[in-house]
Amino acid sequence: MDQNAKKQAAAKAAIEIIELEGFIGVGTGTTTDYFIDLLAEHKHQIDGAVASSVASADRLQENGIAVVDLNGVGDLAIYVDGADEATHHRHLIKGGGGALTREKIVAQASKLFICIVDDSKIVDRLGRFPLPIEVIPMARSYVAREMVKLGGRPELRHGFTSDNGHQIIDVYDLEIRKPITLEETINQIPGVVGNGLFARRGADIILVGGDKGVERFD
Ligand code: 5RP
Repeated sequence: MDQNAKKQAAAKAAIEIIELEGFIGVGTGTTTDYFIDLLAEHKHQIDGAVASSVASADRLQENGIAVVDLNGVGDLAIYVDGADEATHHRHLIKGGGGALTREKIVAQASKLFICIVDDSKIVDRLGRFPLPIEVIPMARSYVAREMVKLGGRPELRHGFTSDNGHQIIDVYDLEIRKPITLEETINQIPGVVGNGLFARRGADIILVGGDKGVERFD
């Protein structure tokens, strides 16, 4: 089975386990795109969706699903999103698509966070994928120097501006032994808007598409 088929299988498994009602929180990325396309088949059962990016909002609307602002709906029952890396402890690295800050807000505002990935994303320890950090542009060099002190090798994501008007630094070679502690430490650096470690609020369920079907971690 190729990687796209595995992503699609994980997305289908998410559709099968969620309550299709009310407003659904929807993440960003190619795996989530499969989820959106499947959700469209059930659009008459739900009231709409809260999107974690402009790209996902566009795709939802193209599929005839109403998109509402998080401010208008309060906490969500369910959030479905992909990840760049995931562990058996359900800690994640996200932000490969640059939507990490909005993704973290919607994940935090949701009772159940279901992460959908193909099996290439599963790691024993986070950090093979560079950690994305969203920064206020005037702080990018300062934040980069702070990340060097933490053992990382920061690189600016050139030509990229987040939906929030900020820049992204991708940090390579970090040793992420304590994901929750590192997430909190990075959040304390002035100029950091958000970082791609999802450990304080990790996923509740991970659905992993693989050659033998979909495996579930919870
Ligand atoms: C976007 C994300 C995505 O969930 C992550 O990059 C995975 O993407 P894909 O499903 O395309 O592999 O965090 O900011």
